[in-house]
Amino acid sequence: MDWNALYSSAFEGVRGRIGRVDRVLLAYNTNIDAIKYLDGRDLRERVEKVGKDKVLRYSDDLPGRIESVPQLLGSILWSIKRGKAAELFVESCSARFYMKHWGWDELRMGGQVGIMANLLGGVYGVPVIAHVPQLSRLQASLFKDGPIYVPKLEDGKVKLVHPKGFAGDEENCIHYIYEFPRGFRVFNFEAPRENRFIGSADDYNTTLFIRDEFREGFDEITKSSPLTIISGLQALTKENYREPFEIIRGHLDVLNEREIPTHLEFAFTPDETVRKAILGLLGRFWSVGLNEVELASIMKVMGEKKLAEKLLASDPVDPVAVTDAMLKLAEKTWVRRIHFHTYGYYLALTDYRGEFVRNALLFAALAAAAKAKLGEINSIDDVVKAMDVPVNEKIKPIEEVLSKVYGMEDGITELNGYQLTFVPTKIVEKPRSTVGIGDTISSSAFMGEFALR
Ligand code: AMP
Ligand code: GLC
Repeated sequence: MDWNALYSSAFEGVRGRIGRVDRVLLAYNTNIDAIKYLDGRDLRERVEKVGKDKVLRYSDDLPGRIESVPQLLGSILWSIKRGKAAELFVESCSARFYMKHWGWDELRMGGQVGIMANLLGGVYGVPVIAHVPQLSRLQASLFKDGPIYVPKLEDGKVKLVHPKGFAGDEENCIHYIYEFPRGFRVFNFEAPRENRFIGSADDYNTTLFIRDEFREGFDEITKSSPLTIISGLQALTKENYREPFEIIRGHLDVLNEREIPTHLEFAFTPDETVRKAILGLLGRFWSVGLNEVELASIMKVMGEKKLAEKLLASDPVDPVAVTDAMLKLAEKTWVRRIHFHTYGYYLALTDYRGEFVRNALLFAALAAAAKAKLGEINSIDDVVKAMDVPVNEKIKPIEEVLSKVYGMEDGITELNGYQLTFVPTKIVEKPRSTVGIGDTISSSAFMGEFALR
C-alpha cells in the first residue's frame, strides 16, 4: 500500500474543498495554557526544598486535586515516571501562587474549544463560533485573526463578534502545563515518553460554567451552524455535574431537532459517575473522538474490565481489542462514528461508507504531524510540511493483523454493518510539544469528512 500517495491526495482533496464547510459551533472549554518546559535540576531543587518525603508519596498515588505544593510537585513526578499525561484541578491558593512565580516559557491558546477555534477558523478559514467561559484581555489576544466569533448579547439579541472585539475584562483561566521530553531525568525517574502534567488554576472550565449568551441565545446561535463539536465535560465531578448536564441536554435537544451532526471530544474523565453520565448521552451525538486510555475508561464503566486491560496492555495498542471495544460502544449507544487515535495509528468505525472517511483521517494525521513538528500550524500550507515525516514503519504488523482478521484492503473493510477504517500515522521523533495534538486530530478529521462528502 503506498500510503504516501494516499496522504498526498487526501491533503489536496481536503484543501480544495475546505470552503464547503460552512460554520462550526464549538463549546465549551477555552483557557490559557502557560507552558513550562521542565528542567531536571530546577525540578530536583524545588522538590528538595519543600521536602522529598512529602513530595514522593504523590508520585505513586496521584491526589484527586491539588491542595498543596508537595502535591503539585509529586503529581508532576507521577507523570514523568510513567510518561503519561494527567490533569488536576488546583484548589489551593498557595499552589496557584507557587505556579505563577515558577513562571512559564510560552503562553498559548488552550482548551479544546480554543485550540480548535484557532485551527479551524484561524488556519483553515472555516467560520467558527466559540464558547469562551471568561474573555480576559489575555485570553482574547490568543485568538488568531480570521472568521472566529463569540456571541455577544445586545438588547436581548445575539451579535457575533471576533473575541478581540468583545471588549471583555473577565478573569484569566490559566492551566499550567509542565512538559517533558522522552528520557527526561530527575532523581531516579526517567520519562519513557514525552508528555505533560497539567495543573488547572481555573474555576470556570473545571465546573463547566456556561455563559448567558449560550444559555439564552443557543437557539439563535445554532441556526447558522451546520456542524458542532462539544468538549470540556472531563473535569466535572459527581458533586457538580448535574446542573451543567441539564444545560447540555437542552443544547442537544436543539442540535438533534435541527439534525446538526455533533462530535464529542471525549477527554480523560476521572470521575466514574460523570463518565457513566456521558455514556448515557453518547447516542445523541453523531460522533465521538478518543484515545486508548479514554476508550479503556469507557469499557470499564460498561463492565468490560478484561477488554479495558487489553487496550492498555501493549504498545502499539492491539487493533482487534480496539475494534471489539468500538463495536461494543457503537452497539450500546448507536453513536454513528467513533474515531480512535493512538500513538502510531487511527481507526474509525462508521455506520456509513466511503473512502472520504479514510481520506479525512489521513488529512488529520498530516495536521497532527505538522503540529508536532512545528509546534504551531499557521496556514493550511504548513500541514503539507509534514509530508517528509515518514509513515510509521512499526505499524506494518497492525496493518497485517487487520487484513488477516477483517480482510481489510487499502485501510477499509466492512464489519457487522459498519465500515472499519484504518490509517498508519506519521510520528515526529522529537515533537516541539505534545499539548493539543489530540484536538488537532479530532477536529481536522471531523471537519475533513464534511469537506469531502
Ligand atoms: P491525546 O492523547 O488525546 O492528547 O492525543 C495525542 C495523540 O497525538 C496520540 O494519540 C497520537 O496519535 C498523536 N501524537 C502524539 N505524539 C505524536 C508525535 N510525536 N507525532 C505525531 N503524532 C503524535
Ligand atoms: C485540556 C486542558 C487544556 C489543554 C487541552 C489540550 O482541555 O485543560 O489546558 O489546552 O486539554 O488538549
